[in-house]
Amino acid sequence: MENGMPNVTSEFNLSLEQFHEIAQVVERMTGINLPERKHALVYSRLARRVRALGMKSFADYTAFVNGTEGKDELFKMAEALTTNVTKFFREDHHFEHFKTHLMPRLISKAKAGEKVRIWSAGCSSGQEPYSIALCILASLPDARSYDIKILATDINTQVLATGRRGVYALEDLASIPANLRNSWTEASGNQFEFDEAAKRLISFKQLNLIEPWPMKGLFNAIFCRNVMIYFSPELQSTLWERFASKLDDEGMIYIGHSERVIGPATGKLNIEGPTAYRKKLRAVA
Ligand SMILES: C[S@@+](CC[C@H](N)C(=O)[O-])C[C@H]1O[C@@H](n2cnc3c(N)ncnc32)[C@H](O)[C@@H]1O
Repeated sequence: MENGMPNVTSEFNLSLEQFHEIAQVVERMTGINLPERKHALVYSRLARRVRALGMKSFADYTAFVNGTEGKDELFKMAEALTTNVTKFFREDHHFEHFKTHLMPRLISKAKAGEKVRIWSAGCSSGQEPYSIALCILASLPDARSYDIKILATDINTQVLATGRRGVYALEDLASIPANLRNSWTEASGNQFEFDEAAKRLISFKQLNLIEPWPMKGLFNAIFCRNVMIYFSPELQSTLWERFASKLDDEGMIYIGHSERVIGPATGKLNIEGPTAYRKKLRAVA
């Protein structure tokens, strides 16, 4: 590939017109914005699909996904264009903040019989919600005895299946602090598995963030990190406001290191450290 464009030796040809057609469909379905510099990425991710379907060209592929028979493939195409890079305790200052500045209040709430709700929005294969679960278990080992839940959502069903299984490659264990990995994971062969205590705190559900959200209640903390970078500024602004409206008073939202809250949500949140925002208290009339 050169300048993001396939060279003459590419297996298939993805014309700019076909690229734009795909980019438009994907943005409408998922919010993911694919500028022309992503041509090489779209080519490599979708060439696999073209091959898997035994097709000869992107022209055949786009005709198929646009036809009545292509509905399932349309969804697979969108899934193939999500980027699912993640890591346990990624941007670990958020977990430090969560443990130090939020957990004491959440423990009091839980012990008083109140609900505690955390949302990992765009959770990928589960490393983020398991990191949250371990922070909770570190401060409250019997967390399961209380009404504490982590909702973990993503648009991609394949990554959600990995999260539900709770089994990961042994080499990933090193990013989990030693005391937590010793208490809440079990290694076997070249894999390790989370303890039921961690698994049961998390509910993995498919949710497309640009569609209506079925959850009725508010959250004490929302982690939405490294998801908004893929969306247009207009969509980011709309979604930040929707997130702010789902936060309980003084609830926290943690965002990715290269992201920032923009639009009307800025009036509802106070900045509390890099990429951490706290919901302002509702004005009492
Ligand atoms: C780079 S991963 C971030 C994972 C994790 N939050 C982290 O920071 O490590 C971005 C995730 O956002 C998900 N995503 C992209 N568009 C989405 C949408 N419209 N609704 C829900 N999830 C989406 C992708 O499937 C992907 O798993």
